[in-house]
Amino acid sequence: MSTQQTKHFLGLKGVSAAEITSLLDRAAYWEQHPSKVTNTLQGKFVSNLFFENSTRTRFSFELAQKRLGAGVLNFSAAESSVQKGESIYDTVRTLESMGIDAGVIRLKPTGVLQELAEKIKVPLINAGDGNNEHPTQALLDFYTMRKHFGAIKGLTVSIVGDILHSRVARSNLWGLLELGAKVKFCAPPSMQAPELAQFAPYVSFEEALQSDVVMMLRVQLERHDHGLLRSAEDYREQYGMTMERASRMASHAIIMHPAPVNRNVEIDDELVEHEKSKIFTQIAHGVPIRMAVIERALT
Ligand code: CP
Repeated sequence: MSTQQTKHFLGLKGVSAAEITSLLDRAAYWEQHPSKVTNTLQGKFVSNLFFENSTRTRFSFELAQKRLGAGVLNFSAAESSVQKGESIYDTVRTLESMGIDAGVIRLKPTGVLQELAEKIKVPLINAGDGNNEHPTQALLDFYTMRKHFGAIKGLTVSIVGDILHSRVARSNLWGLLELGAKVKFCAPPSMQAPELAQFAPYVSFEEALQSDVVMMLRVQLERHDHGLLRSAEDYREQYGMTMERASRMASHAIIMHPAPVNRNVEIDDELVEHEKSKIFTQIAHGVPIRMAVIERALT
């Protein structure tokens, strides 16, 4: 995740349970201290460099930065010199030259973030890296699970849907295994990532429903080659969390989803704000989690 010299935060693979727990604890501190703005990062400047669209991650990072008292510079690729052909590296290097103290970055191509982190000296925080990792999403998922169940060790978590294209699935997998949870995957054959099967078995939807947490993934239509998905109706019938399937989950079990949701595709409309669903609670936890991550990078 990081070097001693630069506190990059690139992913959860290889991060210890102690380090994850310390970030969750710090997020709990920030959640319990809901004062709107502090001066923790007064005099520091953080740039949000989103080369791919976002609502939750982008705005919760900005709220987190503002609550910590940092100066915020928002970069939008669509309004920048990227439109004149400037590269991702030259863009980030430009902001670094101007004196930003950290960059929060979301990129479409997998692997570019790692290359950037080898050249850029200010801390870079991964806000979504192709289909590789989305570590702050997984942290807010862990925070939500820990708050609901009291502990993560011993939980069984089923991750259902488009595993192949999901950075959320990968960050959750690495972190949950490290924290002592059991992970199962459930996906149509065309959306499986076979290289992950050694870490979490692929199971039927029937078996996936017998878990403490059933995490539904968005079908990432924008990442699909033509033909992976026959129809939304077909997907819902075979791999959607329908009201009928939810009724077969244990009474204590919860439904999660990183959002945005395709209503009535991977999850029924009535379930999005159902009492079993934690979707908007997850979103709320994004702010304290990102406060903890930014603080870690800059202090
Ligand atoms: N969950 C998530 O990353 O949402 P956004 O793409 O809106 O940031």
